[in-house]
Amino acid sequence: MSTAAMPEFPAGFRWGVSTSAYQIEGGVAEDGRGPSIWDTFAHSPGRIADGSTGDVACDHYHRHAEDVALMAGLGVSAYRFSIAWPRVRPSGDGPVNPSGLDFYDRLVDDLLAHDIDPVATLFHWDLPQPVQDAGGWLHRDTAPRFAEYADATAARLGDRVKLWITLNEPFVHMTLGHGMGVHAPGQLLLFDAFPVAHHQLLGHGLAVAALRTRTASPVGIANNYSPVRPAGQSDADRAAAAAYEALHNRLFTDPLLGRGYPDFPGFDPAVVRDGDLAVIAAPIDVLGVNYYNPTGVRAPEDGAPLPFELVPLDGYPRTAFDWPVVPDGLRELLGWLRDTYGDDLPPIQVTESGCAYDDAPDADGRVHDPERIAYLDGHLRAVRAAIDEGVDVTGYFVWSLLDNWEWAEGFTKRFGLVHVDFDSGARTPKSSYAWFRDLIAAARRTTAR
Ligand code: BGC
Repeated sequence: MSTAAMPEFPAGFRWGVSTSAYQIEGGVAEDGRGPSIWDTFAHSPGRIADGSTGDVACDHYHRHAEDVALMAGLGVSAYRFSIAWPRVRPSGDGPVNPSGLDFYDRLVDDLLAHDIDPVATLFHWDLPQPVQDAGGWLHRDTAPRFAEYADATAARLGDRVKLWITLNEPFVHMTLGHGMGVHAPGQLLLFDAFPVAHHQLLGHGLAVAALRTRTASPVGIANNYSPVRPAGQSDADRAAAAAYEALHNRLFTDPLLGRGYPDFPGFDPAVVRDGDLAVIAAPIDVLGVNYYNPTGVRAPEDGAPLPFELVPLDGYPRTAFDWPVVPDGLRELLGWLRDTYGDDLPPIQVTESGCAYDDAPDADGRVHDPERIAYLDGHLRAVRAAIDEGVDVTGYFVWSLLDNWEWAEGFTKRFGLVHVDFDSGARTPKSSYAWFRDLIAAARRTTAR
């Protein structure tokens, strides 16, 4: 980790933490919440590494006041959480459940009382099970269902949420959930999963239109990006890298910014109807960027089902997920977005950045996580360098506030600034929490000068 002082950030830079509903809330059967595809998936034997579910998770549904107090102690200016569609409209297209919205209403008011901007994501992968039963994102009707849910949510919270994020990482939901079957809903369709991309993007566009009628707050989307590194300089490796880049980085950005779909192998024009691209390209105010690591790619073997093969990137430290730690990849990525999309690119907020390590309390009950401090330090310097290079980045959210339920990995991967004992629910701020708190306080002092 660099010993040099952290460079100053622009005045008004948003310092935040991120979470998502199914990963922290628990309370899955309370106040009228219906089942989501993640309840179904987690309860299916063999799907989750440790056999756990999100039934209780961090019990945030009951401990939210304690968690807001932790955020206030950290000094963040924003909290990005997600709203569970199955709490708000459990059947997907039936009546709105006011008690489900009550929970978020209280949370939003509590955040505002602590001077923390509520940033709400409308879809972080927890589709109501009845919507899945009717075809899910493979089916076009899910897009208007999503917009109706967005409308109902903004009718209640639109006066207080400070930034709306429609979808979280539609790329990951398509590939892991529908292409490879390792996330809910567990479908293994490979490139036949393309309708899931288009219908999510269409849902995004329809939701943007609905949100505009309910709120004056900015609206955006949070995409997952990964700089792509070809394993070698051969034409075949470069072609493989270009194919992967189209899938991971362009498929969910080109149409959003008015450029239509990139050339990529799964594209099925039959799914795209007249007018859809204009709906998808509705102007957004913020592009959310979730960055974890770059991806190494080489040409596939002859006859392989995919036009690329993913290869490990050697020579970097690794997290407990075995992901390479490459802070400069974030600077590279932000520059790539600016160079690729130019004036079409809205201001960026880094809506997720973080790492998993096997953090455990020591004999005194304290949790030391120097690797996370080094990780965040490096990534913030990378953001600062990108700003120096002319990229308009206006915020940074750490993934995550709490150790939580990490999807197919269950409770085995800890991403939090705050350690959670998953038996008792006890929260213990880690040393990275103190580090981030001090960094935010120092940044506020210098920008207030
Ligand atoms: C997701 C989070 C997840 C994190 C770490 C992102 O892809 O949005 O829900 O916990 O990565 O895997």
